[in-house]
Amino acid sequence: MQIIILENAAQVAECAADWVQALIEKKPNAVLGLATGSTPISLYHKLVSRYQDGLISFANVNTFNLDEYYDIEESNPQSYRYFMRKYLFDHVNIKLKNTFLPTCKSGQNPRVQGVMFEDKIKQLNGIDLQILGIGANGHIGFNEPTSSLASRTRIKTLTKQTLTDNSRLFNQNERQPNMAMTMGIGTIMDARYVLLMATGKNKAEAVNQMITGPLSANCPASVLQQHENAVILLDREAANALEDKGYFL
Ligand code: F6R
Repeated sequence: MQIIILENAAQVAECAADWVQALIEKKPNAVLGLATGSTPISLYHKLVSRYQDGLISFANVNTFNLDEYYDIEESNPQSYRYFMRKYLFDHVNIKLKNTFLPTCKSGQNPRVQGVMFEDKIKQLNGIDLQILGIGANGHIGFNEPTSSLASRTRIKTLTKQTLTDNSRLFNQNERQPNMAMTMGIGTIMDARYVLLMATGKNKAEAVNQMITGPLSANCPASVLQQHENAVILLDREAANALEDKGYFL
């Protein structure tokens, strides 16, 4: 694990954008793993502005998102497809047919959908760089605590804490889905590089558990201790609970 502690969230986004740009320069048909949530929004802003400045092209890039709510329409503003279009896809030259999310509608078999998603990743020769955020409970994707560290793409019920954390994104009378399809931890671990971004003080404890805690399904992100090429980008607040911060500077 390479731990990089930066001053603030803007620097974390800038550094993550540098990683993505460097990958696409080296491999124009790179396969990117993407995350939703608050943390990567500033990364997507930076990628859009680099695209507008002619520094980066997504023409041959393929993407796989970590997760998507169960039985949600793409046109629903709460869907992760909608999120990705709003913050990235609709502003760069990516082909929408090259963007994949693990979806499952009511009436479809989640197992079959999960296998199809895994097969698509394999068909494109695996994910080069997976972007991750981290939940306050240590989840990555929607792999909640106690998820199998070897899990593959599947349906998961979200924990109370995740539902509470994400309720800020829903209006009072809007239905908040409590199930989602998510890449598994084993799927994430197969990515050649993993770049986890964490910012803000409400992530400090989860970050500490991920880096210094035992490798445990209670903190799914701790599995990254075993990834060969995991880079953890933190701002000062998210790094705050690490005992020996000086060691990482
Ligand atoms: C999003 C995802 C989640 C988030 C995590 C942090 O696709 O898979 O694991 O990365 O919940 O969310 P934010 O960034 O909103 O704090």
